Amino acid sequence: MSRSSQEIISLFDQFVIPNYTRYPVALVRGEGSYLWDAEGVRYIDFFPGWGCDMLGHAPEPIANAIREQVGRLIHVPNSWHTEEQGVWAQMLSERSFGGKAFFCNSGAEANEAAIKLTRLRSPKGKYKIITFYNSFHGRTMATVTATAQQKYHDGLEPLLPGFVYCNYGDLAGVEAAIDDETAGIMLEPIQGEGGVNVPSLEFLQGLRKLCDERDLVLIFDEVQTGVGRTGEWFAYQYFNVVPDVMTLAKTICGGVAAGAMLCKRELAPSLRKGMHASTFGGNSVAAAAGIATIKMIEEEGLLARAKEVEKRVKDRAAKWASEMDIIQEVRGVGAMIGIELKIEGSRFVELCMENRLLINCTHGKVIRMLPAVNIPFETLDEGLGVLEDALKKGA
Ligand SMILES: Cc1ncc(COP(=O)(O)O)c(C=O)c1O
Repeated sequence: MSRSSQEIISLFDQFVIPNYTRYPVALVRGEGSYLWDAEGVRYIDFFPGWGCDMLGHAPEPIANAIREQVGRLIHVPNSWHTEEQGVWAQMLSERSFGGKAFFCNSGAEANEAAIKLTRLRSPKGKYKIITFYNSFHGRTMATVTATAQQKYHDGLEPLLPGFVYCNYGDLAGVEAAIDDETAGIMLEPIQGEGGVNVPSLEFLQGLRKLCDERDLVLIFDEVQTGVGRTGEWFAYQYFNVVPDVMTLAKTICGGVAAGAMLCKRELAPSLRKGMHASTFGGNSVAAAAGIATIKMIEEEGLLARAKEVEKRVKDRAAKWASEMDIIQEVRGVGAMIGIELKIEGSRFVELCMENRLLINCTHGKVIRMLPAVNIPFETLDEGLGVLEDALKKGA
């Protein structure tokens, strides 16, 4: 394959449905925190794979595990047992709350499984799930309905009944929204798409208490925060508030597509035989990559590394905040950091891209970074230098 960027873009224009806003760049190779386009231009990536490539691009231990696995067994359906899927479930369970896993292929599917489990587990007539404004749970009909913002709903109505929206952080509002039909509460323990919003401990503890008192299922969508991103295996451990159900995807397999829902042991029988399935879920290649991801994080001390990345980025950003009036707030945990601006942020993303740094802006004004946790500090500093120049130029 040796087409130019323009030739590749032209293929997309002719044959790919234009449902994404794509930058006019065609990427052909990645290594660690670097990407190269078809003309050989190198970019530093502060937003690898929208958070999926948390171990960098093409991490060697993951690539090796996949190579080894594809030569042996790629996929058999879930009517059989495989060692890889069993071991992967065990490793996730032992690093979280000791529950059981259902495997799928994406974050939306993991959340679908959590929604179905919650309805199946609840007495007849209890089906509502409370979710939050500024959340993001996926694009299937159920998960897009769980995602509260109208902009994701326009034209799709009628949506799935049974979702009730509350303000993130408003415990009294949640309490008031619970009624006899409520089955559960679903939220991101740190909102990603909504602007890297870190909730108060009291809010999460309050939700846990409400769920215990009213016999509701507490679901944490850890698709963006999970598997090491925050410097803990899972963000719930950062807050020490344990959910009943947790969903994972993005970071779970070192960049390979996969998802999982983990639930407490006593809830597992509710997803009874025949009520849910995924043909590719937990396939052997994903499982091998998932196992290798956990091993790599452990062997290379990457949980601690995520905290070092946080400190380095926050220290630098705090300095900018003291110098530049456009910065409203710097927030985040581990390698998940947002810089909220007082002005619209997309122009800074473009300025960075012109200078070969890939970064994201979410919620209009929040510059979002989800760098690889193993990004070398000199690369991190170089990228932060590009962002600093962009902020100064655009201020
Ligand atoms: C918190 C959260 N949940 C769910 C999803 C949906 O994941 P996927 O795109 O893999 O379906 C995302 C994707 O950005 C997410 O950030």
